[in-house]
Amino acid sequence: MLSEETPPYGSAPHPAPTAPSASQGQASVLDVRKVRTVHLQAAKEAGEKFAMLTSYDALTAGLFDAAGVDLLLVGDSASTNVLGQASTLEITVDQMVPMVRAVSSAARRALVVADLPFGSYAQGHAQAIETAVRFMKEGGAEAVKMEVASPAQVPLVAALAGAGIPVMAHIGFTPQSEHALGGYRVQGRGGAEALVDLARDLEAAGAFSLLLEMTKTQVANLVDETVSIPVIGIGAGDQVSGQVLVWQDAFGLRQGRMARFVKQYAQLADTLLAGAADFRADVRSGAYPAPEHRFDD
Ligand code: KIV
Repeated sequence: MLSEETPPYGSAPHPAPTAPSASQGQASVLDVRKVRTVHLQAAKEAGEKFAMLTSYDALTAGLFDAAGVDLLLVGDSASTNVLGQASTLEITVDQMVPMVRAVSSAARRALVVADLPFGSYAQGHAQAIETAVRFMKEGGAEAVKMEVASPAQVPLVAALAGAGIPVMAHIGFTPQSEHALGGYRVQGRGGAEALVDLARDLEAAGAFSLLLEMTKTQVANLVDETVSIPVIGIGAGDQVSGQVLVWQDAFGLRQGRMARFVKQYAQLADTLLAGAADFRADVRSGAYPAPEHRFDD
């Protein structure tokens, strides 16, 4: 197991997680008080799998962290899932910073990753570093994720890594390039070569991990075998080291048609609808507030 020294300079201690042990009985490289990029690398080397969920607020971050989820991603999916915007392209850094702060303030064990939104790194190295630094300084993020839709963006990853910023490079289907890619499509159907080359270049540029979205399983497996850094999949088969889901999809807060890769573990929309309807009925009938909810004396 990778042990950690006592933090210097009065850093906040990380209390033991209340979650069940990551390994459920067996020793695991992920049985740590605080997940760091080195533990994810160790997980890949040990053939252990890890879990990542999106989170955009303190309450879900605290719950997912307590459940033992290893990484929390403050994704640009907050644009549609939290702010009700039409697409993820609309969200700004200013809108995301308070969400990153909320998540990092509640997470004890999980590694907090902030997503660089559309337009926040397009102008070059200085802008990319400035955005990432804001997420780490103002938001308390421990790493950033950046979509890499073309080899031309690899030097940006090198610049971030060179500035001491841990970067997760998002490849495969990259939603910020939805319009350039011609819509939501499984990537790699025409062959694996371009994606495998990009993955190799990103590892060489210093990315600590890859997030691989909506890719044929065979292509994902080739990517995973090519790089030594961990690959986190979303619609990228079962061989990669980690899996990520958007929490509103995974726990059924969103209703309607789901992408094929979504597994739903709860139906929160049904629970909330029923609760809200009961509340309304109680208010109308006068059943709420009952004596125990009032300050009568
Ligand atoms: O922003 C997001 O939610 C993402 C998903 C791929 C997890 O990037």
